Amino acid sequence: MTIKRRKFIQNLGLAVPMLASPFNPILAKEMVFEKGALLDSASSSFAADFKKLNDRVWIGSSFWAVPMEDWEIKNNRLEFSGVEKQSRLHILTHVLGENQGDFVLKSNLGLLQDKGKKGGVGFSVGIKDFTDPKSVKAACYFGKGISVGVNLDREIYIDKKKETLPKEFDFKNFTLQLKGQNKSDVTELILEATDATGKTITLKNTIKGNFDGLVALENKGSEKKESTFWWSDVQLSGTKVQHEPDNSFGPILWAMYTLSQGNLKLTAQLPPVGAKDSQKVELQFLRKGKWVKETKVQIDPVSFTSIFSVANWDASKDVKYRLRYSLDKEKHSYEGVIREEPTDRALTFGGLTCQHAMGFPYRPLVENLDKSNPDMLYFSGDQLYEGNGGYPIKRQPENKAILNYLGKWYMFGWAFGDVLKNRPSVCTPDDHDVYQGNLWGEGGEGISFEEWEKVRDAHGGLVQTPNFVNVVNKTQCGHMPEAYDQAPMKSDISTWYTQLVYGRVSFAIVSDRLFKSGPEMVRAGEGRIDHLTAPATQQELDNDTLSFMGQRQLLFLNNWVGDWQGANMKVLLSQTLFSNVGTHHGPTKEFLYGDLDSGGWPKSKRDKVVETIRKACAFHINGDQHLPFMVQYSINEPRDGGWTFCTPAISTGYPRWGQPDSVNVPFTDRPEHGLPNTGCYRDGFGNDNYIYAVGNPTDDFEEEFDRYQKAQKKASGYGIVTFDTTERTIKMEAIRFLANLDVDSKENTYPGWPLTIQQSDNDGRRPIGYLPKLEIESADQVLKIIKEDTKELIHAMRIKGNTYTPSVYELGKYTVLIGEGATEKTISGIEITIDPKKVISI
Ligand SMILES: [Fe+2]
Repeated sequence: MTIKRRKFIQNLGLAVPMLASPFNPILAKEMVFEKGALLDSASSSFAADFKKLNDRVWIGSSFWAVPMEDWEIKNNRLEFSGVEKQSRLHILTHVLGENQGDFVLKSNLGLLQDKGKKGGVGFSVGIKDFTDPKSVKAACYFGKGISVGVNLDREIYIDKKKETLPKEFDFKNFTLQLKGQNKSDVTELILEATDATGKTITLKNTIKGNFDGLVALENKGSEKKESTFWWSDVQLSGTKVQHEPDNSFGPILWAMYTLSQGNLKLTAQLPPVGAKDSQKVELQFLRKGKWVKETKVQIDPVSFTSIFSVANWDASKDVKYRLRYSLDKEKHSYEGVIREEPTDRALTFGGLTCQHAMGFPYRPLVENLDKSNPDMLYFSGDQLYEGNGGYPIKRQPENKAILNYLGKWYMFGWAFGDVLKNRPSVCTPDDHDVYQGNLWGEGGEGISFEEWEKVRDAHGGLVQTPNFVNVVNKTQCGHMPEAYDQAPMKSDISTWYTQLVYGRVSFAIVSDRLFKSGPEMVRAGEGRIDHLTAPATQQELDNDTLSFMGQRQLLFLNNWVGDWQGANMKVLLSQTLFSNVGTHHGPTKEFLYGDLDSGGWPKSKRDKVVETIRKACAFHINGDQHLPFMVQYSINEPRDGGWTFCTPAISTGYPRWGQPDSVNVPFTDRPEHGLPNTGCYRDGFGNDNYIYAVGNPTDDFEEEFDRYQKAQKKASGYGIVTFDTTERTIKMEAIRFLANLDVDSKENTYPGWPLTIQQSDNDGRRPIGYLPKLEIESADQVLKIIKEDTKELIHAMRIKGNTYTPSVYELGKYTVLIGEGATEKTISGIEITIDPKKVISI
């Protein structure tokens, strides 16, 4: 079956914004504020004059708008251009404290676009989140405050109390002033509205509660698409106002870097600064106590990234870096550390995936991650979901869509910036990152919005424009080593699959979505053809024309398995695991025989990839499932493949369960721990999966109101993998969202974790015999075994020590290559021996 796909719809432009840190949490402390002209922000009074700012979407580091792209500096004022029923521009750096006191909040503002005499405008005050009342980040997205203001129904309001405005009150240009004073547990609010002709009205109301939290400018209607307003200034002062400079976010929002074989790459992520703002970011390193300029790099005008490359990096010690950027007559700095590379000790690796904003800003998890202190991080996909931020995605026009993506992407940096800036990280986009609930990329092929609308997430192809997808790639992968093969995919979409060597571990980083064939290539019908609600035969779901990881990436992996430069161990990083181990899905906990969104099919091509990485005893780390799994793969017989760890979701949205026992799926080989739903099960695509452990959600999470408790119940958390590159072991841990790492408790993890395996466990083949034992003069040499008749590499690794007895799986003659580069030695014509004492000395 073939499908016609239309070309992408091309649209216009560009644009975008950013963030900082909360009331107290663990974030950005390195912001340096030098006195600027714009804001009187260094004291407990705050004043912003928007006339003094250059035109741009992002307002400034003292503010955070939701949705970001709907607020901009334009026509010498602040304008709201969105359609949301309620939208706020929060002041981050000046908050209402818990102390008794007073405050005055004042603005000059007016009607921007009258959309049928509907809509309101004013302030929201005392904004706090129920789950995490101390978090400024949580307050911006989940906080509730008291709304005050005026509306085009000619009312002035404080919360639910309303009065009629004076006759002919002129909305074109007026002032709003809110005075507040709290005594014990009540707060008296007085709101005064005065138009340009002097018509004025005052409304008083008393609100229960001590009224601490954020203050925001607010467009508030009763429905979407109501009238919009502009502001020329805002002032906030009083004894209740507290200056919290660490709450600011930007203009350098955060930084991510990788270090691989002496090459440093670093991305500075900026908000959508304006065309008249400075267009360069400077990178400096602290050398002998002094900041030394390395280079200045242009800000990409669409993705708002500055990407730095530094060759010949000395990774033998920690080096502090600093990013510098001037904005609004202030110099801003953002500091982090390029860590010493761990070459003589174990490498600890944090595996993270899937950030449904229900758990934003994931504070318990981020604090735990900081305590786990991994040497490097991997964010394997779904760094954002379409609904994150609490407002819809914009698919077009292209410039708005990109800004909309950036607004949601910045939530990731706001949550994780402080753990990202001090350690290398790999980040790979998955389906939701490109606004598709499922993705079969078909090598970069496009699908029109119209066609996609008909089938939604059950169809191959990318629906967002190539420019959009390339912004996703640049923002998420720009700091990774150069792509292995930079020739673009179809539709000119950039590639990012690559390899990275760090801490004596060689990582292959691939996409298991972008090249994959869509469900319509094997199944006809309407609706969710990707969900197998009845069993299908393997023949129905597999044929030669289907693509799994694509020829290009397979070629890459074939080369990678033989390249052991600087590495003792190998690890494949992808988005999902190459099996279908989740059994139940979604809000109704529906059982599926198979999910075509899984990495379990097309089986023959999937087997080829598992077989390829097995040659190098490569371990596989991924995410996507919202269910932690430890699984050993099978190809031709049970457990003949390597191991994989699917890490828990940071915060689970769509729930899944791995409960094959509940639907009577046969199993063998249950592990010694005897846990239910473990053992070797065959999935709907014919893969035998040895499930060593699964971390299921509870069934009562819907009743949970606290967002963090809910995340915990939905099996959220992260993975820690420790690669002991000397002992050649791999330890897997799964840390729960609400783990208390200060105590040693089983409650911190999921049943079955931790588990430690040997590097060699990642090749589960049963040998038919052994070649003679190799005794090698130099220790820890690279060894490759090639079958002479087919010239196929059957095994490659860096051996541990001076001796090694190669296993082989077929009769025949073999060539053994020992060593690297000029010192490589070749021994040909070796066959299986039945003499256990036979030795070849090299
Ligand atoms: Fe996900």
